[in-house]
Amino acid sequence: MDTGLILSGEKIVKSYRSGDATIRVLDGATITISAGEMVVLFGPSGSGKTTLLHVLAGLEQPDSGSVSVNGTDVYSLSDARRSRMRREQFGFIFQSFNLLSSMSALENVQIPLWTLGRKNARGLAAQVLERVGLAHRMHHRPAELSGGEQQRVAIARALVTQPKMVFADEPTGNLDSSSASSVMNCLVSAVRDSNAGCLLVTHNAQWGELADRVLYLIDGRVEVEPK
Ligand SMILES: Nc1ncnc2c1ncn2[C@@H]1O[C@H](COP(=O)(O)OP(=O)(O)O)[C@@H](O)[C@H]1O
Ligand SMILES: [Mg+2]
Repeated sequence: MDTGLILSGEKIVKSYRSGDATIRVLDGATITISAGEMVVLFGPSGSGKTTLLHVLAGLEQPDSGSVSVNGTDVYSLSDARRSRMRREQFGFIFQSFNLLSSMSALENVQIPLWTLGRKNARGLAAQVLERVGLAHRMHHRPAELSGGEQQRVAIARALVTQPKMVFADEPTGNLDSSSASSVMNCLVSAVRDSNAGCLLVTHNAQWGELADRVLYLIDGRVEVEPK
């Protein structure tokens, strides 16, 4: 039986050098996300949310501490195996939509399937675009879509591979407040339908009510209460 994915980050420390000074952005951050769980992580701008998301998603090695996915130590894998794990098991949604401008929505959503060599890319992409309410926009290019529609395409692209875990970094940061709400509701319901776990990081406290669990990044650690 597939018991889904459990992502765990233990005592993560990450510093950046800034001139002569060293800034310790993450200072023993510990977090666990269970299969199918929607976790929202809050923190002010500059608190290290993006850094933590990158470390947990296998994109940036911490100075110390560990990240494991169902017991596999992510940073003990070779670069090639780690990037294969990301492509197969994770979906990503960022503030900037990162769509390819020369391709239609339908083609953009097929890209991760092409990369994985999966069959029926076109049919699967069309299904997911329909799920995010864009059946009537499939053949449009990004420039012909609103910001909210572009982010829905990015949501479809993140979910089309049926990832076990979705990482969303300020996904509504580039949207006005009315399209932000509809995009966020779309994201949460599509992720819940797919039964993926999700880490959503944001500085906007409004989205907490959508979560199973709310956490706070404070002084480089993950806390269950705001300061
Ligand atoms: N690659 C980097 N090099 C140097 N400093 C960085 C780098 N990435 C992030 N920082 C610094 O780390 C701190 C946290 O950044 P970030 O994780 O982006 O925070 P948040 O996403 O919460 O706004 C900031 O002070 C930022 O300037
Ligand atoms: Mg950030």
